Amino acid sequence: MKSFIKSLFVFELAISFSLAKDGCLMCHKYRNLGYIQNNTIILCDISSIKFLHSVHRDADCSECHTKIKAYPHDPKNVKATCSSKCHVIDPISKKFFSHENIVKTWKESVHGKYYDKAPDIFPSCSYCHINKELIDLEKLNSAKKSLAKCSICHTNNYDLKIAYAHVLSRSEIPIEKNGFAFGYKAGIQRNGWEIVKLCASCHADKRKMEKAINVMQIKDEERKEKILEAVKAYLNTMHGKMLKLYPKDKRAADCLDCHTHANGNFHDIFETIDERSSTNPNVLPKTCGRSDECHPLVAKWNDKNFATTKWVHMDPAVFKYENPVVQAIVFGVEHGMFYMAASVLLMGAGIVFLSLFREIRNRKKDKED
Ligand code: HEC
Ligand code: HEC
Ligand code: HEC
Ligand code: HEC
Ligand code: HEC
Ligand code: HEC
Repeated sequence: MKSFIKSLFVFELAISFSLAKDGCLMCHKYRNLGYIQNNTIILCDISSIKFLHSVHRDADCSECHTKIKAYPHDPKNVKATCSSKCHVIDPISKKFFSHENIVKTWKESVHGKYYDKAPDIFPSCSYCHINKELIDLEKLNSAKKSLAKCSICHTNNYDLKIAYAHVLSRSEIPIEKNGFAFGYKAGIQRNGWEIVKLCASCHADKRKMEKAINVMQIKDEERKEKILEAVKAYLNTMHGKMLKLYPKDKRAADCLDCHTHANGNFHDIFETIDERSSTNPNVLPKTCGRSDECHPLVAKWNDKNFATTKWVHMDPAVFKYENPVVQAIVFGVEHGMFYMAASVLLMGAGIVFLSLFREIRNRKKDKED
């Protein structure tokens, strides 16, 4: 059962009372506010300074935690929702802001569709996103210079800083050293390798994937194997290797480049058998040949052959089921090469050791003579 940590905060007000708009931080600003559940401490403190510099700083606590109206909180009501409209007005559309459209896409996607059945293995918004802090312009020389140019026209320095930090968080920021700018780092968005790591945190986890196969009641053996091997099979490919060597490489496709539509919102991830999926065989040529970024020069007549799925996940399953002879050859060559290289090395090491042994024995003999 829950019990409080009363380290900083002795709290006797058990009577429930209504909370004013921003009354939440009155309690939650205290360090180490939390409770104990199953022998682990669950902290509920919110750093007010950090919160006020975060991307969600303008939303009120209760606009996300919509059901919390009083203390004590009913445990059923503490969950946050990402689909409510908050009081922040979007300066472009002039409407109240909401993530409704993303929540809708996610709900329809393979991740949202099964989320309610197994929330521990399917990702929700807060698995992939944290409440990030805005970029600190003071730390970036190039940003300071651009900001000075904005103030030629705009005079409210504080709002301007926020507006610029907002845009900059989504663009490329030059890395500066000794006054020189060389290369770019992405803003606070993830780079290709970070996306791979995010997706792999589940997709490379056999236990989670086996559980998911049960939840989704997948019977097809080929599909099961493809699901279980997806990450390993991706890391075998040129795309995977390029990103592993250079995480910010923009030329190599990460998981999202293929599994979402170019004009989508990053969350339209569907099962390959689903018509709406960007990896559905009907759409695949379009996905691989994205007009400007990927393989635009593939000849139209060769579209279908180019976009065969063998090389995007170098998956033994594909070969095994589509062409068992090729699979047997690939298997033979791969293992043959391994054992050949290993035996050459072993033999080399053996010869070195034997000759060392002979040398020692000869020296001993010389001494005795
Ligand atoms: C009177 C002090 C107080 C106020 C005001 C308060 N909280 Fe809490 N809150 C707590 C305490 C103490 C906990 C620790 C767990 C518990 O008792 O439910 C907590 C826990 C929570 C949790 C986590 C619950 C969990 O089980 O993980 C959330 C979310 C939360 N509060 C949100 C809010 C929001 C949103 C508001 C404002 C509408 C708010 N709180 C106002 C004291 C308060
Ligand atoms: C933009 C939406 C949003 C706003 C604004 C927001 N929260 Fe949360 N909060 C979340 C999400 C999402 C979680 C993760 C747990 C979940 O999914 O319910 C969370 C979790 C929490 C927790 C649980 C402990 C933890 O750290 O995971 C507490 C306590 C909490 N919020 C309090 C607050 C307080 C106090 C405020 C106002 C200062 C606030 N929240 C503002 C979305 C929000
Ligand atoms: C499987 C992981 C995953 C899930 C689940 C997820 N997202 Fe995302 N989301 C991403 C990735 C990856 C991006 C691309 C930006 C980046 O690189 O972080 C993104 C981008 C966004 C952006 C644009 C961010 C920006 O700064 O440009 C918003 C807003 C967003 N997601 C909201 C949501 C909401 C709301 C949900 C829940 C319905 C959700 N996401 C669920 C992974 C996820
Ligand atoms: C030449 C003058 C000028 C410069 C320089 C300038 N702006 Fe603006 N900005 C404007 C005007 C005028 C508007 C109103 C837009 C309109 O309605 O056409 C505006 C609108 C905006 C808005 C939208 C605000 C809203 O509520 O609609 C933002 C945000 C903004 N500017 C940020 C910036 C940033 C950041 C910079 C520097 C990188 C910058 N501006 C440089 C003149 C300028
Ligand atoms: C170059 C494009 C590309 C990249 C990059 C990519 N995939 Fe795929 N993925 C595909 C295609 C195409 C299929 C369909 C394969 C098939 O059915 O033979 C697929 C299938 C899958 C499947 C399901 C297997 C099935 O057929 O049902 C999963 C799971 C998957 N990918 C996850 C990932 C993850 C995780 C990553 C990143 C580590 C990733 N993919 C990277 C193109 C890609
Ligand atoms: C919290 C865990 C988790 C994360 C993070 C996650 N997924 Fe999944 N995903 C799953 C589970 C579970 C399934 C269902 C099993 C399956 O179909 O592969 C799934 C299904 C899929 C499928 C459908 C495969 C099919 O059956 O055809 C694709 C494609 C996919 N995920 C891509 C991604 C991509 C891309 C990312 C990273 C942005 C990602 N996933 C992040 C858990 C996760």
